Amino acid sequence: MKITPVKGTRDFFPEDLRLRNWLFSHFRETARLFNFEEYDTPVLESEELYVRKAGEEITDQLYNFEDKGGRRVALRPEMTPSLARLILQKSGSLALPVRWFSIPQCWRYERMSRGRKREHYQWNMDIIGTAGVTAEAELLAALTTFFQRVGLSADDIMIKISNRKVIQTILDNLGVTGDRFEKVCILIDKLEKVPLDAIENDLKALELDDDAIAQITDIRNISSLDDLENRLGSEAPVVQELRELFSLAASYGYADWLAFDASIVRGLAYYTGTVFEAFYKGVSLRAILGGGRYDHLLSTFGGKDIPMCGFGFGDVVILEVLKEKGLIPDLDSQLDDVVYPYDESLRESAIGIARDLRASGRSVDLILDGRKLKAVFKQADRTGAARVILLAPDEWAKGEVRVKNLATGEESNVKPSDL
Ligand code: HAM
Repeated sequence: MKITPVKGTRDFFPEDLRLRNWLFSHFRETARLFNFEEYDTPVLESEELYVRKAGEEITDQLYNFEDKGGRRVALRPEMTPSLARLILQKSGSLALPVRWFSIPQCWRYERMSRGRKREHYQWNMDIIGTAGVTAEAELLAALTTFFQRVGLSADDIMIKISNRKVIQTILDNLGVTGDRFEKVCILIDKLEKVPLDAIENDLKALELDDDAIAQITDIRNISSLDDLENRLGSEAPVVQELRELFSLAASYGYADWLAFDASIVRGLAYYTGTVFEAFYKGVSLRAILGGGRYDHLLSTFGGKDIPMCGFGFGDVVILEVLKEKGLIPDLDSQLDDVVYPYDESLRESAIGIARDLRASGRSVDLILDGRKLKAVFKQADRTGAARVILLAPDEWAKGEVRVKNLATGEESNVKPSDL
């Protein structure tokens, strides 16, 4: 039998989980600072939640199957449709706006590369019920706060921002209507990975003429907000929205982390407004996170639309970045005391001491076997314990234990009540 995990998935040994917990604690603490409440949903969902026809990668990568009751189900590839499901369940009774976060494990049958696995944990933060870009600005503030907490700065990270309404405006100006918007967005998102002529052929298949195709593929060459304004006019709502977002970023004090980048479109169909992705400025890695505004997702599930925006932030790429920067912390296990009965006649007393220390909140490793003292010290050092408490016959006869402080090396005899 193979003892390695299924291809693309990870085992988390205690030392790996310590690091994951450290990362999640920063996700959770950042969420708390910005008043986001945690929620969760099952990893198994109905397949129909992900049936979208815009040609997204994510729907081709679905882990889907039929359960024993003949239901079509899937392991969630992302959290956003589940969140939408929750909001629809509460429709009407939820006092909006709300800010919710989660850290779900997500499953995608990906072609694997550095930073890309078949399961990952994804920190999601979403604001539900705020229509203005003040919501996006708050999400970006949370992101830059997180980055700073783990030791990264604007010298390391760039958050690229654009808005789906750039494409929408160009299509409107061309008189292109109907359901082609989402499909065009997904095709433009693929421009980085697929040769231009293949994308042009797919755009032709959507019955767009050469002029329209040229204008759409030229979006990548818009190099600044001023350039965008020259093309669409200063009155265009998308120009004003982007300007407002950058001005809010300046008020928060994180404008230097952001850059307008018209090539950011995002590979998911449901975005309607602001879109953003963050990248490491050092070695080339896939996006650290991605997000944006999706104001019409609920109506695609048959509900009433509520403005929503948020981001998904995976655990894989950020750890690669932190490794590159030497920012992975040394995380010792949280052991306070090792209690060691020199022989079995002292076991009952050792149990009592361990019990009292644990009752006072200290973490205690009570040695359970007849190991040699040397081996006990070696292990205590390795696990980063603070003290070894030795119960030896002579000291115990005097009502004392021997304590070694492992940080200073000091040894002393102490009454159990003074531990
Ligand atoms: P996404 O861009 O598909 O967006 O994924 C967001 C992030 O999840 C990526 O930037 C990356 O960090 C991580 N990620 C995705 N796939 C993998 C993978 N195979 N291996 C490792 N990490 C991965 C969404 O999922 C949207 N639902 C995010 C969102 C929330 N938008 C609004 N709210």
